[in-house]
Formats: sequence, structure tokens, C-alpha cells
Amino acid sequence: MNGDVVPFPEARISIMAPGLTFAVTVFEGVRAYWNDDEKQLFVFRLPEHLERLQFSMRMIELSPAPDSDRLVAAVSALIRANGYREDCYIRPQAYVDDWGDMTATGPVGWSVICRRRPRVSAFETGKDFMVVSWRRNADDASPPRIKAAANYLNGRLAGLEAQRCGFGGAIILNRDGTVSEGPGGCLFMARGGRLVTPPVTDGILESITRATLLDLAQDLGIATEERSIGRTELHLASELFYCGTGQEIVPIRTVDRKPIGDGEPGPLTQRFQEAYDAVVRGRNPRYRHWLMPVWP
Ligand SMILES: Cc1ncc(COP(=O)(O)O)c(C=O)c1O
Repeated sequence: MNGDVVPFPEARISIMAPGLTFAVTVFEGVRAYWNDDEKQLFVFRLPEHLERLQFSMRMIELSPAPDSDRLVAAVSALIRANGYREDCYIRPQAYVDDWGDMTATGPVGWSVICRRRPRVSAFETGKDFMVVSWRRNADDASPPRIKAAANYLNGRLAGLEAQRCGFGGAIILNRDGTVSEGPGGCLFMARGGRLVTPPVTDGILESITRATLLDLAQDLGIATEERSIGRTELHLASELFYCGTGQEIVPIRTVDRKPIGDGEPGPLTQRFQEAYDAVVRGRNPRYRHWLMPVWP
């Protein structure tokens, strides 16, 4: 918390903090992966996450913002203090603390939280999704490109609608009526042997998992396309999956109760899951530079 490791109950901010009262908070979600052969914990693409956090802080004008070197040191110190030797999830966040109004730019508080987080079971089983009635917040209103807590109201409404209707996940359309993303992850569609994902201008977070998978597709010899996806194309897809740091890669079995392919996790999705797992756990030497080892 602001550079110190403190017990969780002592990590407090003011109830008048604009970070709470006006959701003036930006954050990152990062995963660290345990490699049992090497007895090492690898933080995945931390510099890229922190670069995105710097962008988020700049856009909402937090000042002075903590620099990335301090945040990297805090992530290492925190994991070591907790003694984690298993998969975990790290949330660096920055906000306006103390008292202030909607436009207050400081004082900036920052903290890093780390907790155990195994892989979601849907990685294996997949999930059933629906296209929700809520539309994605637009880049000229509450920009999804910023990882701001305020954007997650839109995601929450979408997620609640999907849950209420008995679905495991939500697909949100943007104002133009094309596919944007889900409440906490991006979408990929396999169609005609190509892997298609909406462009970063269609109302999505510039996802690090998405960028990783676009790179891995090249290695796997699979053609990719970043273009808008129409709603009905979801039903023409041979496979669909949902991806993000938290979810990793979740196969989408059905959309609006209609099966995608045969309604089971497809072969292309499984190839990406295997390739992704090899990268994040350090089994692919080509991408070791994406991993930060935590233990000496
Ligand atoms: C709204 C949203 N889209 C996409 C993603 C995926 O981004 P990343 O792959 O960087 O975790 C996330 C977070 O994980 C998210 O919250």
C-alpha cells in the first residue's frame, strides 16, 4: 500500500476518496504462474500491464502517478512476503484517495493486491454465452480502452443479465451493433479456417491476452483478421472463445442456446489453450522474455 507491505485489514482508504465516491480508480489484472519443474513463479507480461496502467492513469489525469519501476518492485515484494508458490492473481491499482471532488487529480493512492487463483474450471468445460441487451460504453463516453473501475458498471449490468437468464457469460454489442467483448475478456471467432477478433476500435480493452494469441496464431500458422464481427456471424462460427488474464481461454459452447460447432470445446481452441499454457508457464523458450521470475 503506497510502497509498504501491510496486513490486509490495515490497507484502508477514506470513504470520501474520489477513488470510491466517483470511481476514480484504474487497475490491472495480472497472473503469475507456477512452474513446478523449475520451482519458479512467473509473472506474465508485467511490463505490458504496467504500460497500460500508465496509460489509464494518464487518461484520467492521476498526478503524480507511481512509476512502473516502483510497481514492479511492489509486485515482487508482495508475492515474496506472502510466500506464494502457486498460481496467483495480482491487482495493481491507483486512485484518488482522501477527500476530493470529481475532478481531483490527487492525492494519488496506489496499492497492489495478490491472492491465490487457480485456473477457472470453464477452461476445460467451456461456457454458454448470451448476447445481452446492454450496449458497450463508447470510446467517446467512458472509454473501454482504459482499465477503469467505472467501466465495470457496464460489465456488471451485462454479467447480471446473463446470470439472471441462466447463462455463464455475456457478449456485449457496441453502439453500431457489432460484437465488442465480454465483461472481463475479449472474443475470438473461428470462421473459414481464420481466426477473427474485433479491432481495438470496436469498444474493447486492448487486451494483453488477445495480443498474445494473435502472436501465437502466427506460430501455429493460423491466419488472423482484426475486423468487426456481426451478431449473426457468431452463429456461423465453427468455434468461439473468450480470453483474458483471469479467464485465460474459455471455450464458448453456445450463444443464445444455439450450439457453436458441435457445442463442445473445439480443436482450434484447444490448440490455443495448449500453446498459451506452454508460454505462460515458461515451456516455450521463444517467449521467456514475457516472464518475470519471482523467486531467486
Ligand atoms: C473488459 C475486459 N476486456 C478484456 C480483458 C482482457 O484483457 P487482458 O487480456 O489484458 O487481461 C479484460 C481483463 O482481463 C477486461 O476486463
